[in-house]
Amino acid sequence: MSSFFKIILLNHSSKAMSDFQWLIFIEFLFIITFWHVGDKLKVLIKMCDFQGHPKKSGGDVLFARLHNPTLGAGVAGKVEDHLNGTYSAVFSLLWEGSVTLVHPSEAVTVLRRLNSEQPDRVKFQSIFYSGSISETTICNVFLRSTEQPLCNYTDLHTGEPWFCFKPKNLNCDTRINHSKREVKQNLKANEEKLFQLSCNEVMLLASLFVISLNCCFETIKHNCSGLSGYYYKDEWQTLSGTKVQQFNTPSAITQCLKGKVVHLYGDSTIRQWFEYFNGALPGSCLSDHKQNGPFMAMDIPNNILMTFRCHGPPFRCHPVPISELRYIANELDSVIGGTNTVVIFGIWAHFGSYPMEVYIRRLQSIRRAVIRLLNRSPGTVVIIRTANPKALTLFESLANSDWYSLQNDKVLRAIFKGLNVHLVDAWEMVLAHHLPHNLHPQPPIIKNMINVLLSYICPIKSG
Ligand SMILES: *[C@@H]1O[C@H](CO)[C@@H](O)[C@H](O)[C@H]1NC(C)=O
Ligand SMILES: *[C@@H]1O[C@H](CO)[C@@H](O)[C@H](O)[C@H]1NC(C)=O
Ligand SMILES: *[C@@H]1O[C@H](CO)[C@@H](O)[C@H](O)[C@H]1NC(C)=O
Ligand SMILES: *[C@@H]1O[C@H](CO)[C@@H](O)[C@H](O)[C@H]1NC(C)=O
Repeated sequence: MSSFFKIILLNHSSKAMSDFQWLIFIEFLFIITFWHVGDKLKVLIKMCDFQGHPKKSGGDVLFARLHNPTLGAGVAGKVEDHLNGTYSAVFSLLWEGSVTLVHPSEAVTVLRRLNSEQPDRVKFQSIFYSGSISETTICNVFLRSTEQPLCNYTDLHTGEPWFCFKPKNLNCDTRINHSKREVKQNLKANEEKLFQLSCNEVMLLASLFVISLNCCFETIKHNCSGLSGYYYKDEWQTLSGTKVQQFNTPSAITQCLKGKVVHLYGDSTIRQWFEYFNGALPGSCLSDHKQNGPFMAMDIPNNILMTFRCHGPPFRCHPVPISELRYIANELDSVIGGTNTVVIFGIWAHFGSYPMEVYIRRLQSIRRAVIRLLNRSPGTVVIIRTANPKALTLFESLANSDWYSLQNDKVLRAIFKGLNVHLVDAWEMVLAHHLPHNLHPQPPIIKNMINVLLSYICPIKSG
């Protein structure tokens, strides 16, 4: 038995319509085969302009999710781009949902152009200091060629490039700290309007899709459709085979981490995890620099050591001493490893403004270090945090849009595929959750991520 619903929703906007605004028209194609594994909701999405002319090309960034507040349930939908102005979103569980237009393809064109023409638009600087002389110059992965000579800080072990303009009166060895400067991007006239979407979310009506939940859970368990999990009663369940346990008390966390050394590396989204543990574990200490670290936390009675270190440049931060600016790959090379060692990293939020090669090169050097680590100490637990969707202002879009994160996230998954590493799928965990997207996901989401993390570290012993 199959049913077909066709609903056209017009996206009303109180703002003046412009050529830059696209409307989302949605048709539901709902195929019900009750009580059979494989029940799915398929949503066909058509993009039209405000006069109703269908769009002929693809490339729009759409997110889809279903949720049910009563059940504390949520799951991400897979959006497929048919490259002709139509999309489909497939859901494996039938709750109420929404489709959000993140960027129309015209905005993606701008984002692409910015990365090829202005890959240095997020500016960095270093301070050089010697005696009573101090100079500040601009730094980046690549610098526009000028007459001014460069200091080459390319890392000899990883080959990661980094350059600063040479100070006029000081030599390159006198560089003392690194920080982010302003973000400068040149948009063409009216391009900013492409990023100002009003009413870009269309709700899917739940009442049309009332279906037995038992059936749905059977469905999703038997046919994962490439999803890594879903929320039920506000608790994330993975579909990868790892049973997610709940670590609700400090003693449950302590019990799991007893005797372990846990190293965290990456950006502020990994620091959030360190902060969670630091709040939950007694006897911790923090370094005095709240943003950059490095941090160390200890629980001596339980023999737990936890560290956090930020990743190397292009780390967007307040001034950090050069000696603390280290590449994850090099740090991993100094880890002995073993069954009581856990290595966790997440590196994504500072790479959006560059051409993809920069991110690929970074991940490949980390991958090589992970392989060396697992080779010398095969029992080491390695866990990777993926990117997540965030709140997008115009500024955020241009410096690190979800579109950039989505491309980078695909690269990350491909590069670490096949290695003995675990993924915490922050992307789906944020997308499927009812809380608003945020670069730093809110505490209920972090708690779920920590539960997944600890379930990898302390799996339930079978048998
Ligand atoms: C699982 O999903 C895929 C793709 O949606 C479908 O082709 C396949 O038939 C499904 N398998 C089962 C057992 O339902
Ligand atoms: C777009 O492509 C999809 C998948 O190939 C096809 O089913 C659909 O009919 C196409 N739509 C249009 C308007 O060409
Ligand atoms: C920077 O140094 C690296 C490593 O020594 C070298 O391979 C590279 O060619 C240098 N780049 C420039 C532009 O000087
Ligand atoms: C970095 O440079 C600034 C400006 O001179 C200075 O005030 C600051 O103390 C330096 N920070 C570190 C961590 O070295």
